[in-house]
Amino acid sequence: MNITEKAQEFIAESENSLRNDSFVKLSLGNYHGADESLKNIYIKKVLIKKEPRLSLTYRHKTRDITKNHTYEEVTGMLAQWLGSDFRVATLQMTDSDVLLEMHPSGKATLKKKAVANRDTPSLSHDKNKNRLISSNGKGYLFDLKITDQQGNVFHNAQDKYRQINHYIDILSSLIREINPGNAVRVADMGSGKGYLTFALYDYLKNVLKLAPEVTGIEFREDLVTLCNRIAQNAGFGGLSFREGTIDQFDAAGTNILIALHACDTATDDAIFKGIQAESDLIVVAPCCHKQIRRQIEKHKTENDVSFLTRHGIFLERQAEMVTDGIRALVLEYFGYKTKVFEFISDAHTPKNVLIVGTKGKRTEKSQAAALEKIREAKRFFGIEYHHLERLTGI
Ligand SMILES: C[S@@+](CC[C@H](N)C(=O)[O-])C[C@H]1O[C@@H](n2cnc3c(N)ncnc32)[C@H](O)[C@@H]1O
Repeated sequence: MNITEKAQEFIAESENSLRNDSFVKLSLGNYHGADESLKNIYIKKVLIKKEPRLSLTYRHKTRDITKNHTYEEVTGMLAQWLGSDFRVATLQMTDSDVLLEMHPSGKATLKKKAVANRDTPSLSHDKNKNRLISSNGKGYLFDLKITDQQGNVFHNAQDKYRQINHYIDILSSLIREINPGNAVRVADMGSGKGYLTFALYDYLKNVLKLAPEVTGIEFREDLVTLCNRIAQNAGFGGLSFREGTIDQFDAAGTNILIALHACDTATDDAIFKGIQAESDLIVVAPCCHKQIRRQIEKHKTENDVSFLTRHGIFLERQAEMVTDGIRALVLEYFGYKTKVFEFISDAHTPKNVLIVGTKGKRTEKSQAAALEKIREAKRFFGIEYHHLERLTGI
């Protein structure tokens, strides 16, 4: 039978299982579509305002996006996707599994196998259940004024709580990629009030069941004292905060290095610490980009984009892109695979770019190529030096 017939059979099985309440879950994989970052889609039943819906989790390389649809809408989507975008689909039901595999040759196979009785999943769309960091029983969220003592998120802290979960969502995919050992060591440079440091420790310790050692580095003594007290209250033995500057921290042995919104060149100091420590994962969200902006302004080099940079706002944006672009190149020089993407909506903050470096191998060729690109960029934009370049001595 060809793909279309098998796909129709698969869709009919899915519709049946939704009707007779034997549907448990549907997964789509082996993606060959146009979206480079999409990997899988997972579909489950939910109740929204007491109406049955299907919740689709689009699993991308670095984040998950969830959208809800009616049964009919999803049936239409499956008809479009099966055989073109996705080549494998699995339907899990209470008493059997159906596996559809579609081959580039145009052939398809559909296998059904019985399984031991499964329960139908609960349909409650309890947000807390879907969150990696639930708000219940978390003393640190109470101490940080995110929740009340009963675990209810304060109205004015909803955004912060969502942001914390979104951040953990992103990190969870990245951590899956590097597969750290049990005794994972994390440094959070410029940890501030520690919202994200606490949540990451909680996730590593209580969700992944690792034995993490997480250190927040912060030069404000009041914040360090506050965070250490909250960590102690929470019984988070592996989490501590140290007063000091990023450039003075001894990061040796750090597996995961994080710096979120550390000002200007403090982000470079943090990346350098990660490179020195040969961390498996370096994650930074840069803040302001003054060092490179000053140099672009000072030299006023005429180039193809001068018509843009004569406007202050575009100069600002360009300084941001050039600074972060060169940061990614320096990471690549040291063998890191890099990704740069927006991690929160710009409704929360315009400083929403995340640079991620995952340790890989460096070769003479890749180093020479990265170096050449850095030199070109500096020449083009009239930059004498990039702070990270100086730190690393390349
Ligand atoms: C904008 S806050 C971000 C806090 C936290 N990372 C977050 O995203 O919620 C930046 C923090 O980094 C600290 N900081 C900036 N530069 C630093 C440096 N060179 N060494 C240590 N701490 C630094 C500041 O005191 C501030 O608390």
